[in-house]
Amino acid sequence: MDVYEAIRKRRSIRRFQDKAVPWEALEKCIDAARLAPSGRNQQVGEYIVINDAEVLPGVFENIGGSAKQPPDKGGPGPIQHPRAYIIVLINKEWEGDANRRRVSLYDIGMAAENIILTAHEQGIGTCPILMFNEADLRLLLEVPESHDIVLVIAMGYPDESPVADVADDSLNIYVDEKGVRHVPKRQLADIIHRNGFK
Ligand SMILES: Cc1cc2nc3c(=O)[nH]c(=O)nc-3n(C[C@H](O)[C@H](O)[C@H](O)COP(=O)(O)O)c2cc1C
Repeated sequence: MDVYEAIRKRRSIRRFQDKAVPWEALEKCIDAARLAPSGRNQQVGEYIVINDAEVLPGVFENIGGSAKQPPDKGGPGPIQHPRAYIIVLINKEWEGDANRRRVSLYDIGMAAENIILTAHEQGIGTCPILMFNEADLRLLLEVPESHDIVLVIAMGYPDESPVADVADDSLNIYVDEKGVRHVPKRQLADIIHRNGFK
């Protein structure tokens, strides 16, 4: 799949098919994360990969935002929950100095996009989630204090086909009467400056 085409077609997915995600597909995503650009090449990320049906519900309990909305508000129905998660950690020992957190978060963002696009190429939908209960997830997954949980990526085979619209006044996402999620994106002409800010 062409990279630009993948970027154009990818949308965050919050309703998933009742179908397991194989370990090999998830491992490939982590391999892509491993190869992402990294400030001073410190590669501060570690990843907990979850596809065990017994562990999934506990993670779902601890996420929020649109990914957890009731079905009539665009969230998943009872059998549309994520079928895998990648929990993104920063290893504080590898990070060294806590003042480097700003750089570390760029690292994580770039690694996360590699994960998201590698999943997309394999037909797997994703939703990056910042609204999560870190304390309870830490307990559930036995994450040591040496690591911070910085992002959750919900994953699974898509059971919805959201569309990117051209934004006019509002950037609000909405679900139409047919259940299609619409994601307004700013227009190219509104964000590009040619050879200087004018
Ligand atoms: C840093 C970040 C945090 C996000 N956190 C959440 C979240 O907590 N819950 C959720 O449902 N979606 C979350 N999202 C997904 C965004 O809502 C989504 O990317 C945005 O609406 C644009 O839609 P698209 O990804 O389909 O282009 C997050 C995305 C990013 C980049």
